[in-house]
Amino acid sequence: MRVLSGIQPTGRFHWGNYFGAIRQYIDLQHGNEAYYFIANLHALTTVREPEVLRQNTLDAALDLLALGLDPEKATLFVQSDVPEVTQLTWLLMSITPMGLLERCVSYKDKVAKGIAADAGLFTYPVLMSADILIYDSDIVPVGADQIQHIEVARDIAGSFNHLFGETFVLPKYKVLETSAKVPGTDGEKMSKSYNNTIEIFEDPKAQRKKVMRIETDSRPMEAPKEPADDHLYQLYSLFADEAAREAMAAKYLAGGFGYGEVKKALADAAENFYAEARQRRADLAANPQRVAEILATGAARARHKASEVLARAESACGVRRPAQA
Ligand code: ADP
Ligand code: TRP
Repeated sequence: MRVLSGIQPTGRFHWGNYFGAIRQYIDLQHGNEAYYFIANLHALTTVREPEVLRQNTLDAALDLLALGLDPEKATLFVQSDVPEVTQLTWLLMSITPMGLLERCVSYKDKVAKGIAADAGLFTYPVLMSADILIYDSDIVPVGADQIQHIEVARDIAGSFNHLFGETFVLPKYKVLETSAKVPGTDGEKMSKSYNNTIEIFEDPKAQRKKVMRIETDSRPMEAPKEPADDHLYQLYSLFADEAAREAMAAKYLAGGFGYGEVKKALADAAENFYAEARQRRADLAANPQRVAEILATGAARARHKASEVLARAESACGVRRPAQA
């Protein structure tokens, strides 16, 4: 199976991104032909500082590689390094009904949040369709909020095939495990937009401070508590092994513990969990040439496939002449 997904470089990745998405991408690189890219063209709809976009793109690559994305197994690249994608976007745009895009809730949500209603934001799902279709992707792992966009990609692919003959593979989505809905420091879903994130690779001291400041209820020290209902316990369970998790649950049920103790255990468990990745990230950051090579190799592999599919689409719709074949 060819698996493909993209992740926007809109800020540093947090625990929610890891357990909700990145870890699953890494798992899927085994036994599949996996393509993962950093969606910097999509990020341009919201990030308007060139240096920030450049830095975020590099940070995203470092984070993914440090967390276990293996460039020998998966193809990792930056979206804009494959210009064929933007070429295909125009072909798809030409046959995309306005109504299909008008129905997309993500556009409306973003505009409601105050993001500028630019043409790029409105046509975001067409660029995303090109991202998917240009690699003949079979499976697209995404968060639930992106399902509608995969359906748009299928619709556009189906229309193109209907108009011009079989050209594109119809992709299927794979919803990432929602059981891993990671709570943030305020107990709500962890998200950049809620300002409640703990970043995977933030400075360990700053990270510990943030953990110590996680909001808790005013349960008296001696009272027992149902662990599953507590966001501190939920966070701790992500990082602890089974024995540690059970021991902590027993403490909750027995009562007589303070949240400060749980926070310390959480900070230790998280530090331990990411210790190797942190070291790998530091090694990679000290070797920018190596990272540049990985991204260049990824882009070359991705372009090889993309140019084949673009030629197929251009021939099908008549913008490529036989002499150019
Ligand atoms: P944010 O909400 O911080 O802007 P994104 O929307 O960029 O995060 O999410 C990127 C990926 O990480 C998506 O696949 C999303 O489903 C996943 N993700 C983000 N936050 C969480 C969370 N708190 N729990 C589980 N998955 C998450
Ligand atoms: N829109 C996706 C998100 O915000 C990122 C993305 C861009 C993507 N192109 C894609 C995901 C293609 C899957 C396939 O999460």
